[in-house]
Amino acid sequence: MLVQVLDRCFEPYIDAATIAARIVHLGKEIDADYEGLNPLFIGILNGSFIFAADLLRAISVPAEISFVKLASYKGTSSTGNVVTAIGLEENLSGRHIIIVEDIIDTGRTMHAFIPELLQRQPASVKIATFLSKPEALVYPDIQVHYTGFSIPNKFVVGYGLDYDGMGRNLPDLYVLKDQ
Ligand code: IMP
Ligand code: MG
Repeated sequence: MLVQVLDRCFEPYIDAATIAARIVHLGKEIDADYEGLNPLFIGILNGSFIFAADLLRAISVPAEISFVKLASYKGTSSTGNVVTAIGLEENLSGRHIIIVEDIIDTGRTMHAFIPELLQRQPASVKIATFLSKPEALVYPDIQVHYTGFSIPNKFVVGYGLDYDGMGRNLPDLYVLKDQ
């Protein structure tokens, strides 16, 4: 069924059951890779809040989670800046970090955030993202280790992702119609 979010019409893309099954699989992969390492997950707000909640419950190894809020804004040029709006209080030194993102689009957010993390001398940093749009990636240095779904360069909402702040609560993922 089509859904209306603000002024746009979206059509079903990936249903909640398919998402849930994929996350169980990601959880098993992470469990196998992080046995005995007590990973620290860092969720990037706002978009990752639902994926982070489901992913953490799909993991059995002892683990911790914290969140940061990164704001990206556009200046007069076409390149966006990323600022850390809420920082991390944890000591990251020697920790195994798994960043939890809703979507890797251009890669700009991770390109700005990962050097900040590395300054704090973690033992390792990997990225777990619900979605990635490989065709949109403009920062090839960004390596994604755990991907829920790779999708074409189309605009999606639901499962935490928004269109102008709305649509995050949709349990399924939807794609903009007639794009
Ligand atoms: P980046 O370009 O990889 O830095 O991604 C920036 C942010 O853009 C993501 O964290 C999302 O919040 C947002 N974004 C990118 N593509 C979509 C989309 O299709 N729907 C909703 N938000 C998106
Ligand atoms: Mg986001």
